[in-house]
Amino acid sequence: MDFKEYIRVIPDFPQPGISFKDITTLLMNGEAYRKAIEELKTMVGDLKIDVIAGPEARGFVVGAPLAYALGVGFTPIRKSGKLPYETIEADYDLEYGKDKLAMHVDAVKEGQNVLIADDLLATGGTISTSVNLIRKLGGNVVGAAFLIELEDLKGRDKMPGVDVFTLMKYD
Ligand code: PRP
Repeated sequence: MDFKEYIRVIPDFPQPGISFKDITTLLMNGEAYRKAIEELKTMVGDLKIDVIAGPEARGFVVGAPLAYALGVGFTPIRKSGKLPYETIEADYDLEYGKDKLAMHVDAVKEGQNVLIADDLLATGGTISTSVNLIRKLGGNVVGAAFLIELEDLKGRDKMPGVDVFTLMKYD
């Protein structure tokens, strides 16, 4: 399946110069959504995964169904102030902005194998910060899976040693 057929590209959103890759059009198509998750499942099939961690918000719509398909747990990585229990937090830069990510202190147990899942790898700020949080909790990051990678932004260079799996690549 050519998954790119289901991605709607919006020029100059949310800022001039940003070509936004809208995944809602893929999510709205049941067959494309299911096949995308199945394809990611196949790509990470050789990894031993205990839990999937997905960054808010679009990481949830990739990470949760992938966890369900693999029969493993899911843990959310959220923007600061959203998680109710004790957290660890880290500042990070976005492709267009700044924010803070948080995880519950018990979201990942010492020695657990964690796969990170998100919709998009752009600058890699979100994922490299997620990698740091998971490692701080004692987790072993076994890979990172995305629907889309914006190759020119070289996000994967921000997390050497982490295997990156992507369904679609754009310049
Ligand atoms: C987007 C996207 C990734 C991240 C990619 O999320 O879903 O998580 O940016 O960019 P990066 O590789 O440069 O960090 P965003 O923070 O916009 O939040 P949302 O999913 O809640 O819209």
